[in-house]
Amino acid sequence: MTRAYPATRLRRTRTHGWSRAMHRETVLTPADLIWPLFVTSGKGVEDPVGALPGVSRWSVDLIAERAKEAVALGIPCIALFPNTPREKRSDDGAEAFNPDNLMCQAIRAIRDACGNDIGILTDVALDPYTSHGHDGLVDEGGYVLNDETVAVLVDQAMTQAEAGADIIAPSDMMDGRVKAIRMALEMGGHANVQIMAYAAKYASAFYGPFRDAVGSSGLLKGDKRTYQMDPGNADEAMAEIALDIAEGADSVMVKPGLAYLDLIWRAKQRFEVPVFAYQVSGEYALIEAGAAAGIADREALLMEKLIAFKRAGCSGVLTYHAPLVARLLNG
Ligand code: PBG
Repeated sequence: MTRAYPATRLRRTRTHGWSRAMHRETVLTPADLIWPLFVTSGKGVEDPVGALPGVSRWSVDLIAERAKEAVALGIPCIALFPNTPREKRSDDGAEAFNPDNLMCQAIRAIRDACGNDIGILTDVALDPYTSHGHDGLVDEGGYVLNDETVAVLVDQAMTQAEAGADIIAPSDMMDGRVKAIRMALEMGGHANVQIMAYAAKYASAFYGPFRDAVGSSGLLKGDKRTYQMDPGNADEAMAEIALDIAEGADSVMVKPGLAYLDLIWRAKQRFEVPVFAYQVSGEYALIEAGAAAGIADREALLMEKLIAFKRAGCSGVLTYHAPLVARLLNG
């Protein structure tokens, strides 16, 4: 600041709406949004997720409709998560690399409906497919095995790429999986399939409603603290991000969102890669609960939270509120 009051009155530019618009440093657009969608079996099925009011699981045919909706709203990418039928879940999560699983069916249906007008991001982790609800293979003591899991994640990622996924997003937090998946994609004819690594993913209390949505909450034995990060750690998040970039990630993610904005900022100062944030299920549910209780203005609160992600340096945000936000932005 080189001038003092009254030469500088910072309120001057705030006087009218046009001036506030003109001086706004950060803006949100529909292109900043990635819409996570839950897939379920059947046809013509919309199955509301109890823990996430306003969010449903959609059968494959209706998922394609949602993708068309996203295109019309200017949302560039959707993220898919399956609610695998109980009888297809197993200790080894083998349904994850069945080329006809719900994910692959959804990918093909969306591609048929939308061509390349939308990006399809697919989650790589075993939790929607395992009978124990963990993201990887477990030993007799319940410990999630790293290298054995990575081998399965590679099969899962390749299966999704074969079905037509554009962005592989490993959310499992195993060490070395980005490199293994990158190599397999390169060797397997999918050099242009991207990897968005869930690089700094915390063992968080904000994931509860998601586990309901994919049907893994009742199954999960113990917690995920031997692989997801400790909320007290930030240097370690930078190490995770640096490794994932070195292993071949095209972009990285911080998850959950608002409680971890410092990491987005730090990552942007330090690395030259796109950083995304996941405004997770618990964040969505709290906004909805606040609105339902009459203590929060849903739309104002949401816009303020989302602009915070962009201000911190995000290239985009995964949010279940994506269609609502896009509608608001499109006026
Ligand atoms: C699976 C996965 C989870 C989320 C995204 N991918 C859950 C978990 O790690 O337990 C959470 C997303 C959300 O809460 O919205 N590994």
